[in-house]
Parts: sequence; C-alpha cells; structure tokens
Amino acid sequence: MSVGITGIGSYVPENVMTNDDLAKIVDTNHEWIVSRTGIEERRIADKDQPTSDLATKASLKALEDASIAPEDLDLIIVATATPDYIFPSTAAMVQKDIGATKAAAFDISVGCSGFVYGLVTGANFISSGMYKKVLVIGAETLSKIVDWEDRNTCVLFGDGAGACILEPCDESFGILSSELGSDGVKGDVLIVPGGGSKNPATEETVKNKLHAIRMDGKEVFKFAVRVMEQSSMRVLESAGLSKEELDFMISHQANSRIIDAAMKKLGLSKDKTHVNLTKYGNTSAASVPVALDEAVKSELIKKGDNLLLIAFGAGLSWASVVLKWNKEVRNV
Ligand code: UT7
Repeated sequence: MSVGITGIGSYVPENVMTNDDLAKIVDTNHEWIVSRTGIEERRIADKDQPTSDLATKASLKALEDASIAPEDLDLIIVATATPDYIFPSTAAMVQKDIGATKAAAFDISVGCSGFVYGLVTGANFISSGMYKKVLVIGAETLSKIVDWEDRNTCVLFGDGAGACILEPCDESFGILSSELGSDGVKGDVLIVPGGGSKNPATEETVKNKLHAIRMDGKEVFKFAVRVMEQSSMRVLESAGLSKEELDFMISHQANSRIIDAAMKKLGLSKDKTHVNLTKYGNTSAASVPVALDEAVKSELIKKGDNLLLIAFGAGLSWASVVLKWNKEVRNV
C-alpha cells in the first residue's frame, strides 16, 4: 500500500534572538556565526511554553491542511529531544490538547533524525494495515537545554515544530524508499548526559551542567557530510531513481556548510533544496518538517516531484526517505 503526506503544518515561536543578541551573552559575533554556520537568528519559546504547545500548534495546521478531524487520528508520534516530561510522552500531551480521543500516542528519541524516523515508523503502521491516519510531529524547545554560557553550542540551536499527516495514497505516489541508521559507538559525540538513569538529577549534576547539550562539533560535521552523501545515494537507488531524477531535497538544517558540501558531493544544484536555518538555526527534529512545510507552501515542491528527506543527529543517527509528492498545494 502506498503511503503519502496528505497534510502539513509548522509553527515557530514569535520571539526572535539575533546573533547580535547572543554576542551580548557570550564571546561571539555575527560574522563568526554566519560564516561558520549560515545562521542569522533563531526563535525562542516562552519560559512557560513546553514542546507540546509548539507541537499542538503545528499539528492543528496539518490536520486542517489534510481536512481531517483530530478524532479520526489512529496514532500520534512525536519526535523530540526536549519532551515536556520524562514521562508521560509528549505525544500524549498533544493527544489531549487536540482532542484525538481514539489515537495511540508515543514519542521517539532519535535527536535530529527523529522526524524522518517517525515518518518511516508511521508509514509502516499504515502499510501493515493496522492504522489509516497517523500524525507525525518533530518538535523542540532546545533553548531549554542549551548551556547559554557555551558559545560552541548556544549559537546553533532554536525552537520550532512541524507536523505531517500520513495516509494511504494513490499507487506510484508517496514513500518509495527509506533508510534508518545508527552508530551507537559515537553516542557521546552529541549528548545531554544528565537527567536520565545514568546521571539522575542532583545538585552536582546541575552544578556541572550535565543537563545541557554537549557536542564535538567537528566530529558531527564529518559524520553528517559522509552519511548525507552515502545514505542519499542508497535510498535513491532503492527507489529506482538516478540523481538527475531527483527534483528536490529537504535536509536537516544544522549548518549551511554541511548542506553545501553534501549537495556538491551529490552533484545537485543549489536550487534543488530549501535552506531556512538562516532564520531558525538548528531546530533538531523540527527542522525537516518546518523546511518541508515552507517549501511546499512556496510551491518549490509540486505534485509528482521526486523528493528526498534526509536528517542526521544524536545517536549518532541518520534517516532518509524518497517520496513522490502526492499533494496539491493548499495554503492553510
Ligand atoms: O543537528 C546535529 C547537531 N550538530 C551539528 O550538526 C553541528 C556540526 N558541526 C558544526 O556545525 C561546526 O563544527 C560548528 C559550527 C559547531 C563549529 O564550526 P568549526 O568550523 O568546526 O569551528 P571550531 O569548533 O573548530 O572552532 C573554531 C574556532 C575555535 O577557536 P580556536 O580554537 O581556533 O582559537 C573556537 O573556540 O572558533 C571558536 N568558536 C567561536 N568563536 C566565536 C567556537 N564557537 C564560537 C563562537 N563564536 N560561537
């Protein structure tokens, strides 16, 4: 059974933090951040705004775009590294907020690859025949787990959410191939060490900032460029498509240099992708659906286009999907 995206929506908080704002907090400057990352500004959630609030706002738009009622949803999957709580799941909070009374709900934790992992997971529930309507969300409030004194990381991240509705679609459209990957040996390259069962919260863990993101940026950079090239080639091949037949790529928005390097290695021209990290920074699991929503609404992607979605992140993990876009544009 073919499975496609029948609705999409996104939401970013209104509060903008520019590079100049950051330069007042840490020893950095606009020129360094733009030249090393491409990021000019990012959105920051309110102090009392949890991830589920962003996820709910994006989901309501996706539901409207797909013209389906929350009560018709069979399953909600939230991909996030910044859940509201350790438990219950953020998906359960979204279920409550939107009134999806008959849906099952769970979170997945795959860092920045989470949304694409969620898409593949949701699609498999549909193609197995178990469910018909699945809501997949990537949502983050990374501003709440960033060390605002660490210039190596705090300049990179932002908050946002994107959501898609998956449903059965016409044959020959929808998801054509996918790949999920993980290299757990490199788990500590990108990590929040505290707050789980290994280092439960204590005064000591708070003092030592174990609850904030720690990253070896150079290692992630090398990994990202390599997996983006290799995984793209493999999913295109399993979809039976050549590079030339690819119409558009939506990549995880971490660093414009990573996207440029991958596009170059794949021999793709710059007009075959949409980059929005300039405005939002790296929003982890939210970055792919937010960029996809913008690209669809700007009519950069049209019905029948061959589209590649690709992400990489904590784990270290990666995920890629090739799909033939099945939906006409509707600006919700
Ligand atoms: O979603 C997945 C998660 N993460 C990623 O995808 C991140 C992947 N990695 C990257 O994007 C890049 O490695 C970074 C943007 C994080 C860093 O860029 P880089 O070109 O690898 O810089 P670097 O870490 O080698 O730092 C170069 C210099 C250092 O100074 P010295 O040692 O050469 O004197 C840093 O201390 O830049 C310094 N630096 C900064 N300077 C001003 C690091 N951060 C900053 C900053 N402002 N914010």
